Amino acid sequence: MFKTQVLSIDQQSLEIAKKYIADGEVVAFPTETVYGLGANAFDETAVKKIFVAKGRPSDNPLIVHVADKQQVYSIASEVTADALKVMDCLMPGPITMVLKKQSTIPHCVTGGLDTVAIRMPSSKQAQQFLSAVKYPICAPSANTSSRPSPTSWQHVAEDMDGKVPLILKGDDCQVGIESTVLDLTRDVPLILRPGMVTKSEIEAVLGKEVFFPDAIDKSMNSPGIRYKHYAPACETFLNTDGNLQKITEFLNENKNAGLVALEKYKNLAQKFFSLGNDAQSGAHNIFSALRDAEKVCDKLLIVWDLTGEDADGVFNRVIKSCGGKII
Ligand code: TXA
Ligand code: MG
Repeated sequence: MFKTQVLSIDQQSLEIAKKYIADGEVVAFPTETVYGLGANAFDETAVKKIFVAKGRPSDNPLIVHVADKQQVYSIASEVTADALKVMDCLMPGPITMVLKKQSTIPHCVTGGLDTVAIRMPSSKQAQQFLSAVKYPICAPSANTSSRPSPTSWQHVAEDMDGKVPLILKGDDCQVGIESTVLDLTRDVPLILRPGMVTKSEIEAVLGKEVFFPDAIDKSMNSPGIRYKHYAPACETFLNTDGNLQKITEFLNENKNAGLVALEKYKNLAQKFFSLGNDAQSGAHNIFSALRDAEKVCDKLLIVWDLTGEDADGVFNRVIKSCGGKII
């Protein structure tokens, strides 16, 4: 049990963070996607503390975060032509690439795989942290496993108070859902997890077609996809067609239920949690809406009826958060 410090990011707190990381401890820090729970990627004992703090299954691999492109070469054994294009055009940013790993990266980081996920965040505060600590930092989202991801320092404190020595208190996360995970170790590039960097943006950069695993082999997937994910504390349902009759029936039958939906549905429920007006604002708001709603509702209905590749990332999160229960 720690007495968790929550410190704004400045030179003094970055010094403290640097010391904790050098001593093999875990530090929570902001990025543009979600807050991360970081440890020195080369320190096996430190990495194992992340899994304990989150209650995360040990075969679910972590993403290694780098401050600059040079660090990629200390983590990946093969930086392919496609990887160079991604680094040049999409990094820093909300994208992660999976490459063959260097043998110095411990197995606990990669869940025993011979590949490693690498990401260079664009948020200035994440960059300040990564540059200060010097080591590549492996970090999952800083939530308790299976809970909605944290997009503010308060969310991190809800889940991690007493479990880590330091939370770096930064801005709310601008993107709001986790990075797009792109596997570059196979015959064709595969998007293992959709995010706000879309398939067509990646295709434009690589100059070739990019696939989702389903189109190739349903059993092949990012290991993390097997587990319960993003679930609020109350029973949650999803509607994807925006059918007003179904939505109002649900809300009439469940008097204390909350509605998480685009702003246009605001008048349908007293307990309403807005996803804004488009895919970007939906991504930005989704996890905080789920965390706000679970505090005051005993059931939840999420309506996500936007389509198109911009909306895929949020759909991927909400279908999991409701455990596949669609009305
Ligand atoms: O935006 C993000 O990616 C955030 C912030 C903190 O950077 N991090 C994050 O980490 O979302 P996490 O641990 O919650 O999700 C990592 C995802 C999981 O789905 C995991 O299975 C996948 O990346 N992953 C990691 N290493 C992999 C590998 N070698 N091969 C395939 N998938 C991998
Ligand atoms: Mg996560």
